Amino acid sequence: MKHASRESDASLGCAIVTTRGDLRAVVDGWRAAGETIGFVPTMGALHAGHLSLVDAAKRECTRVVASIFVNPTQFGPGEDFERYPRDLERDVAQLAPRGVDLVFAPTPAEVYRPGSSTVVEPAKVSLPLEGSFRPGHFRGVATVVLKLFNMVRPDSAFFGQKDYQQSLVVRRMVDDLDVPVVVRVCPTMREPDGLAMSSRNAYLSADDRRRGLVLSRSLTLGCELFAKGERDATTIRERMKQLFDETPGVTVDYLSLADSETLVEVSVVTATTVALIAARVAGVRLIDNCVLGKGMN
Ligand code: PAF
Repeated sequence: MKHASRESDASLGCAIVTTRGDLRAVVDGWRAAGETIGFVPTMGALHAGHLSLVDAAKRECTRVVASIFVNPTQFGPGEDFERYPRDLERDVAQLAPRGVDLVFAPTPAEVYRPGSSTVVEPAKVSLPLEGSFRPGHFRGVATVVLKLFNMVRPDSAFFGQKDYQQSLVVRRMVDDLDVPVVVRVCPTMREPDGLAMSSRNAYLSADDRRRGLVLSRSLTLGCELFAKGERDATTIRERMKQLFDETPGVTVDYLSLADSETLVEVSVVTATTVALIAARVAGVRLIDNCVLGKGMN
């Protein structure tokens, strides 16, 4: 595949740059011309969820940069870094018609240069849930997101609610470190049957995919119980958990009813309580969440 260093590559529909220098040359030119920059960071393997972030960026900014970088530092030992789906051509073919102006697809060596050893130690909100099952994950996420922000220097950056804890970690980091970027969190995109869209869904067989629907069914039940007036967190949690007990082949890592800003577990739920689930189906880790008072999106 040809990598354009500047401006549009007619065959692909948008320019691709792989170095920080080329990225900056393009973005600095836009900025000098008074454009606003929206940024959608991704690890590729794109689906409609990512494209909805691009659409949101297009609505808000005059230029949109998407990055495609499978970040090694956010994968733990034994996780799926090696087998994570990589297909730059397919990804770019999806981004170009949505109006992405520039794709930044650096190599690991471009992002983590020899001797690189400074990291972002993320906020307290990174410790429970994903943090306890994937130690070091959010350090890798926060570090790469800050690095990408410093490379792209966007006005706004767009993240999906599906990675709820990630979006809290990023928002906290931006606030704590005075990073001049507006963080937007956009609704989770779902398959017609309710499964939250995820690049990892590609690993699931048809049977496992059906089993995976228990996550969205359980969240829907949580929202319904809340809508009917139930406020006791233990009752809601147990009813939600029961659906997993009735679904063989699915192992729950956590099923949490937590404060939507701190992720501290609650005993009495409110409209802003967030329900978060992580479960493994045939070794594939799925996560999903919803804010009880808002219902499923
Ligand atoms: O959500 C993701 O795809 C990744 O965690 C991100 C934000 C691109 C950082 O590598």
